Amino acid sequence: MRIGVLTSGGDCPGLNAVIRSVVHRAVADHGDEVIGFNDGWKGLLEADYRALDLDAVGGILARGGTILGSSRVQPAHLVDGVERARGHVEELGLDAVIPIGGEGTLKAARLLSDAGLPIVGVPKTIDNDIAGTDVTFGFDTAVGVATEALDRLKTTAESHQRVLIVEVMGRHTGWIALHSGMAAGAHAIVVPERPFDIDELTARVGKRFLAGKKFAIVVVAEGAKPRAGSMDFDIGGKDIYGHERFAGVARQLSTELEHRLGKEARPVILGHVQRGGTPTAYDRVLATRFGWHAVEAVHRREFGKITALRGTDIRLIPIAEAVESLKTVPRERYAEAETVL
Ligand code: F6P
Repeated sequence: MRIGVLTSGGDCPGLNAVIRSVVHRAVADHGDEVIGFNDGWKGLLEADYRALDLDAVGGILARGGTILGSSRVQPAHLVDGVERARGHVEELGLDAVIPIGGEGTLKAARLLSDAGLPIVGVPKTIDNDIAGTDVTFGFDTAVGVATEALDRLKTTAESHQRVLIVEVMGRHTGWIALHSGMAAGAHAIVVPERPFDIDELTARVGKRFLAGKKFAIVVVAEGAKPRAGSMDFDIGGKDIYGHERFAGVARQLSTELEHRLGKEARPVILGHVQRGGTPTAYDRVLATRFGWHAVEAVHRREFGKITALRGTDIRLIPIAEAVESLKTVPRERYAEAETVL
């Protein structure tokens, strides 16, 4: 068989592990040929690709980022995007394309799959918000990075008797905030799923100082917003692809909390450091398993599906199941975290 692979959307630790696994399973075990499209869907739309053999994927398992490059370009951005993709799949004699990506990438995968192209997707995002899979690779690494940062920030917050408001990634969901906040023992966790009330947040942080504590750490997901009418708030705007470009919830919260509490407050924005660098062992294993199962699905001609972790098993589920809604933080998960704050 001839298989095309691409990585699209925001990068994520573990992408190289999937590419390596696809090549090993396909080339070494099945005798397939694999090509890698450069810079995501852009490579498929422009027939910009390279051959991937075992040498090409040597030594990349532990490397962050993606050797194929990524972009946010999608077939839907071009009037003839679907037809161009189809044309290149045919010209290159591909039996399947394996796109590795998050929400936007999988929506594009669904579009092409509905148009009859042979697609098997692999979900990725540090945000862990893809429905249908218990976990996405990259999440464990991002939570580890955020937790280490929070541990470090605690000591400086304590030295200066400050409130630190630490902004982590999570446009629509608060999984990174929830897990890193729990792991590091943050004093408040603010997630997009539950618009915050500034009075309640002030009271929660203030209670610590009243109890004689000298500092506080608040973890906030970048997409968190106040309850309507709770405080003046600038949400920000959109980028050229229509993605949110937030005005900075940590910055706004720190100004508000400093003023209300009469304590020094500082915003800390972790940003893309959460997406960079070497994946954890957990993410390498999950990514490798996803790659292996994607190739198997191609050989079974089980198209229009993505790999998903269910419990400890890898399953193939319809792409539609993954893109129709996001996996948000359930109430109970938040309640568990709140109890230990
Ligand atoms: O989707 C993953 C993510 O990390 C989001 O949490 C974040 O909002 C976004 O990517 C940032 O992407 P960009 O690289 O375009 O700034």
